[in-house]
Amino acid sequence: MLDARLAELTRCLPDLRLLTAPGDLEHYGRDWTRRWTPAPLAIALPASIAEAQAIVRWANEHRVAIVPSGGRTGLSGGAVAANGELVLSLERMNRVLDFNAIDRTLSVQAGISLQAVHDAARGHGLLYPVDFAARGSCSIGGNIATNAGGIRVIRYGNTREWIAGLKVVAGNGELLELNRALIKNSSGYDFRQLMIGSEGTLGIVVEATLKLTDPPPPSQVMLLALPDMDALMHVFALFRARLALQAFEFFTDHALKHVLAHGAQRAIDGDYPYYVVTEFDATDERVQEVALAAFEHALEQGWVSDGVIAQSEAQATALWRLRDGITESLAPRRPYKNDVSVRISAVPSFLHEMRALLMREYPHIEVVWFGHIGDGNLHINVLRPDGLAEEDFITQCEHVTKLLAATLQRHGGSISAEHGIGLVKRAYLESTRSAAEIALMHGVRKVFDPNGILNPGKLFVSD
Ligand code: FAD
Ligand code: LAC
Ligand code: ZN
Repeated sequence: MLDARLAELTRCLPDLRLLTAPGDLEHYGRDWTRRWTPAPLAIALPASIAEAQAIVRWANEHRVAIVPSGGRTGLSGGAVAANGELVLSLERMNRVLDFNAIDRTLSVQAGISLQAVHDAARGHGLLYPVDFAARGSCSIGGNIATNAGGIRVIRYGNTREWIAGLKVVAGNGELLELNRALIKNSSGYDFRQLMIGSEGTLGIVVEATLKLTDPPPPSQVMLLALPDMDALMHVFALFRARLALQAFEFFTDHALKHVLAHGAQRAIDGDYPYYVVTEFDATDERVQEVALAAFEHALEQGWVSDGVIAQSEAQATALWRLRDGITESLAPRRPYKNDVSVRISAVPSFLHEMRALLMREYPHIEVVWFGHIGDGNLHINVLRPDGLAEEDFITQCEHVTKLLAATLQRHGGSISAEHGIGLVKRAYLESTRSAAEIALMHGVRKVFDPNGILNPGKLFVSD
C-alpha cells in the first residue's frame, strides 16, 4: 500500500519516477559516511525543473522533508535520509544544456557528474578547474551545495569562483534565476553566492552555468619525502616562491601504507613520515632545472630526504594516485573524519598543537592525516580499532573534536574546510561561526524555506 502522501504525489505527477523498494531506499538514503541507517519515505527522480517544483510544493502541503541528493559522495552526512524524508535525486537531470564560446560558459543540469563537466569543457578546448578524486561520482549540484574544494584550489580557488549563474527551486517551490551568468552585476544581494555552500537547506540547485578557463599549461609532478612536520611549510614556501604551483598536497606514512595496500605503486624506497605531491607549470625546459635546484636547496637545508620527478604522464598519474587514492583506500574502515582549515600563515603553529592533541587523545588509535596543506586544509581520519564498539569510538572522537574545535578557534580556523557541516559537524558550528551569524543563518533559512522542508536537521543542531 502506497503511503497516502505518495499516492497524492503520483496523482499530481503521474510521470514522476518514484522508488520505494527497500534496496533503493538504502542506496539513496546514505552517503559515504555510512554511519546512519537509511530510512527515507521514497526516492523521487524528477526529469525536469517543473517536476522538481511540483515535488517541493507537494512537500510543503504535506510537510514532508526533502533531502536534495547528488552523487552521495559527501563525507558529512548532508545527503543522508534517515527520518522518513523524500530523497529528491537529481540523477536524471544530468545533461549539458549549452556551451557559449563567447562567454566561455557551460550550462548544465545539476545532476551531471564533475567528470562529465571536465570532459565537456575539454571537448571545447577549455577547462573546468575544480577537481578531486570523487569526480566520477559526485554531481555539480552537490559540489555547489558544499562549495567543494579539491586539489587545484591553490591555483583556481573553490567551486564558488566558478559559478556564473544558478537556477534554484527555493523551499516554497519558486524558481529563482540567479545572476544570469553576468560578470558584472551590482544590483543588490547576490543570492547565487548564498546558495553556494548552503548544503541543500535553502534551495535545490537544478541548473548551473559554469565558468570555463584556458586549459592548464604543461606541468610536472613531483613526489617529495620529508623528514619531519616542520619541513612541510618550509618546502611549501620554497616551491611556491620558485615555481607556479598547480597543487601542493601532503600525506603521512600512515596514509601511504593504506593507499599502497589498496594497489598504488611505491615511488620512493625507504620510510619517511611525511610526503608531498606537487604539480607545477612546466612551460619550458628551464622549469625542470629550477625544480631540481629547489629540491637540492631543500636537501641541503634538511627539509627533504628524497624525491622523484615524473618522467611521463603514466608516472605522473602513478604519483597522483598515492594522494588521490587515500580516501577510497580508507573507506572500508569507515573513518571518523575531521576536515579543518586555518590560514596558511597559521599552519605551522596549528599543526604542532593539533599533533600534540591527537597523540594525547588517541594514544592507541591509528590517525591518518593528509590534505590540501597549501590551502591550510587538513583531513584527519581516525580509524576504529578492532574490539572498540562503534558507539564508544564515536563518543571518544566527538570528545576530541570538541578539543580540536577549541584549538581551531584559537587559531582562527574552520571546523569544515570543504566537506560541509551536514550531520557530522553541526554540534561544532559555533566554534567557527558566531552566535550572531548563526542567528542570521536561521533567519535566512526562514526566508527561503519558510516551512523548513529542505534538509532539516542538517547544518544546524535545531531548525
Ligand atoms: P551529495 O553527497 O549527494 O550531497 C552533498 C550535500 O549537497 C548534501 O547536503 C545534499 O543535500 C546537497 N545537495 C546535493 N545536490 C544538491 C542540489 N542539486 N541542490 C541542493 N543541494 C544539493 N570534497 C571536496 O570538497 N574536496 C575533495 O578533495 C574531495 N575529495 C573526495 C574524495 C572522495 C574519494 C570522496 C568520496 C569524496 C570527496 N569529497 C571531496 C567530498 C564530496 O565528493 C563533495 O562534498 C562533493 O561536492 C559532494 O557531491 P555529491 O554530488 O556527491 O553530493
Ligand atoms: C580528499 C577528500 C577527502 O581531499 O576531500 O581526498
Ligand atoms: Zn579534500
